[in-house]
Amino acid sequence: MKIARVTLSDRASAGVYPDLSGPEIERVLGAALDGKLDGEVVFVSRLIPDERGLIAQTLRELCDQEGCELVVTTGGTGPAARDVTPEATRDVLERELPGFGEAMRAVSFAKVPTAILSRATAGTRGRTLIVNLPGNPRAIGECLPPLVPAIRECLKHLRGE
Ligand code: MTE
Repeated sequence: MKIARVTLSDRASAGVYPDLSGPEIERVLGAALDGKLDGEVVFVSRLIPDERGLIAQTLRELCDQEGCELVVTTGGTGPAARDVTPEATRDVLERELPGFGEAMRAVSFAKVPTAILSRATAGTRGRTLIVNLPGNPRAIGECLPPLVPAIRECLKHLRGE
């Protein structure tokens, strides 16, 4: 099973600071899915700046050419002018699944009041599930584990099981 992790950050992609969030997705998801899937999980990674067209193009490529079953993005979900991940994601989605964003904001808001600043969304394109996460590496550990049961169930539906 192929999973993509995509880090959206002007500064990390320019080498101003290291990308900690992308590897954190791999760590959290790898641990959560360990032993729960039939085959081996292979991760594909991308690190790109906050450009709407480039993000949409990257997501299309990961879904349509790479055949990833799951694409998880991190970063660019907030209210700043350069935060365009939800817009770029909606550009490529066929069907939006707003529950993912709603759940992660609800779960995180109990611990971090600023969690509601994330506009993260999710949805499907063909047989691929795309999920946005906030950019903070700590946010990944808080947001991603509660989403795993719904991610696994959604992947089964997309496979037609
Ligand atoms: N969610 C959790 N669980 N933990 C966090 O630290 N940071 C918030 C929010 N969601 C945060 C979080 C903040 S401060 C912002 S601005 C938004 O995510 C958007 O972050 P992004 O633009 O890096 O995606």
